[in-house]
Amino acid sequence: MSQPAASDNSMLIDRFGRRVDYLRISITDRCDFRCIYCMAEDMTFLPRAQILTLEEIFTLARVFTELGVNKIRVTGGEPLVRKGALGLLRRLGRLPGLRNLVLTTNGSQLENAAGALRDAGVRRLNISLDTLQADKFRQLTRVGDLQQVLRGIDAARQAGFERLKINAVILKNRNHREVGDLLQFAIDQGLDISFIEEMPLGLVNAHDRAEAYYSSDAIKQDLERRFALLATPEQTGGPSRYHRVVGSDTRVGFISPHSHNFCATCNRVRLTVEGRLLLCLGNEHSVDLKRVLRANPGDDQVLKQAIVAAMQIKPERHEFNLREQPVILRHMNVTGG
Ligand code: GTP
Ligand code: 5AD
Ligand code: SF4
Repeated sequence: MSQPAASDNSMLIDRFGRRVDYLRISITDRCDFRCIYCMAEDMTFLPRAQILTLEEIFTLARVFTELGVNKIRVTGGEPLVRKGALGLLRRLGRLPGLRNLVLTTNGSQLENAAGALRDAGVRRLNISLDTLQADKFRQLTRVGDLQQVLRGIDAARQAGFERLKINAVILKNRNHREVGDLLQFAIDQGLDISFIEEMPLGLVNAHDRAEAYYSSDAIKQDLERRFALLATPEQTGGPSRYHRVVGSDTRVGFISPHSHNFCATCNRVRLTVEGRLLLCLGNEHSVDLKRVLRANPGDDQVLKQAIVAAMQIKPERHEFNLREQPVILRHMNVTGG
């Protein structure tokens, strides 16, 4: 099959006319937490030889920006547990053409890292926080310390990020009764918050995902007993549908992969730390960019051709079924969401 020509700044457009301008890069599959919806209790992580070096990650990021990507979200696992993460972020922050460098984190390292992240040019942070109760936090993350994350959120607020967002994955009978308290916390702290429906990636052993399903509509109804919400067309470039909380600056997002499919407006692809370019979170379609990169050192054009060609296999939508065994065997820590 002939390869499409890849000229600099050519846009990445898939078969459905969707323009890809957002790259999510998982810089490690490791994490200091073991969230029950993300991981099984026993996890094996990738050996070093299999993962991209920081230099290779930077090269790929640069090439993507030359192809029209203007937003990069760095994820994990927990991105800040990778040695050299800050140095990489500093370099990414200086990439011409990159308007938006953002990070998703579990907050465990923020107490020390927040200021340096801001200085590196990271504009926004999304911080996972599913509960405000210390014992429940320990149950959901298996090992995490709530106070450490709250201190991290505080440090991030002091560091002056544009808009901090809390991510809360809501599971029925685990934390669904806390959605109002989480929103009140976000309002008090001047943060945005997204409530997320759990996705079936990889086998988890702490709960049955179908039984734990709690829809965005149910969350919204619960919230509306305590707060006035106004739908807003505001976007952050991700799948959240936002509402404003009347009388505050806080935006409430709903990420609803099951109940409100958002694939029609998908603008993103993912790079795993193994160098696999994943065209969709909910499918296995991928291209091995590590192989292309290592077989053609210094040749940006070959990489660009591979990336442009990959757009042709971006699937139309994710298919998640909570009642069956997960079709996607990789756990969420491999893609960082
Ligand atoms: P912004 O909109 O930039 O704030 O980012 P985001 O909310 O998209 O990113 P974040 O890393 O905070 O992810 C929040 C949740 O959205 C995670 O559960 C992700 O798995 C989910 N998510 C992000 N993009 C996609 C997507 O393309 N498909 C699906 N199914 N879920 C996604
Ligand atoms: N379903 C939905 N969200 C998940 N996250 C991790 N695993 C899952 C899952 N199975 C969330 C984390 C983090 C974001 C990157 O993805 O809580 O906020
Ligand atoms: Fe770690 Fe994030 Fe997965 Fe929790 S959801 S185990 S914090 S990668």
